[in-house]
Amino acid sequence: MRRLLLMGPPGSGKGTQAAVVARHLDIPAISTGDIFREHVAAGTPLGREAKTYMEGGHYVPDSVTNEMVRSRLTEDDAIRGFILDGYPRTVPQVEFLDEVLAAQHVELDRVLLLTVDVEEVVGRLKRRAGAEGRHDDDEEIIRHRLRLFAEQTAPLAAEYERRGLLVRIDGMGAIDEVAARMLAAATDDDAAEAAEPTSGATGAALGVQSPVDGAAGRA
Ligand code: AP5
Ligand code: MG
Repeated sequence: MRRLLLMGPPGSGKGTQAAVVARHLDIPAISTGDIFREHVAAGTPLGREAKTYMEGGHYVPDSVTNEMVRSRLTEDDAIRGFILDGYPRTVPQVEFLDEVLAAQHVELDRVLLLTVDVEEVVGRLKRRAGAEGRHDDDEEIIRHRLRLFAEQTAPLAAEYERRGLLVRIDGMGAIDEVAARMLAAATDDDAAEAAEPTSGATGAALGVQSPVDGAAGRA
């Protein structure tokens, strides 16, 4: 169990939980958001291009994101495995990742999807805004990020489910409770079969738990 994707809406705990899994499996946690923020801080051309998109909570164009991921996945430490946090987020990114992995003659082992309540994540990110001052943790931008996730990224789960790779993980509750669920899903070969059913769970299918009238509409 070495090549993992971690999907989930903004504030669902991807960064927090990727670190736990990475430590446990001794693989790098690779967050496209973190790499972009490092480039922005360093003022590189890539950072200057990404900055305008990130500040508004928009996705950075696929062409930019894809080449950055290809380059990171060919570094030495990622050859043995990785947990990718926040990539892929669009259909072209799914296809691109397939090509990168095929060129390396390796396959994904599992795709982990954190499901959370919309208002819980808005609260988490507003608290983080006070503590860390991330520019995109402004309520209006948070809701735009959630909408983008619902529209462009949540539908990708269906493709990974079709491939038999998807495991949904309840991201609500204390960090260590979620971590225990994550580790079970990342290491237990039977977890995929034990994944939550999708039928009737509109919110869960979006990777967001919320009333049926819609996380996507309100987010
Ligand atoms: P990115 O940095 O990935 O942002 P995000 O997806 O919006 O997610 P966050 O990092 O905000 O949340 P998280 O799920 O990691 O949660 P965390 O663990 O921090 O991307 C930023 C931007 O980069 C994008 O908007 C886009 O512009 C660009 N980008 C990145 N990838 C891209 C791609 N593939 N394509 C195009 N553009 C891309 O937790 C959140 C907070 O909650 C923390 O304070 C944490 O301490 C707390 N917390 C965590 N778990 C719990 C818990 N169980 N209970 C209470 N608090 C908790
Ligand atoms: Mg993160």
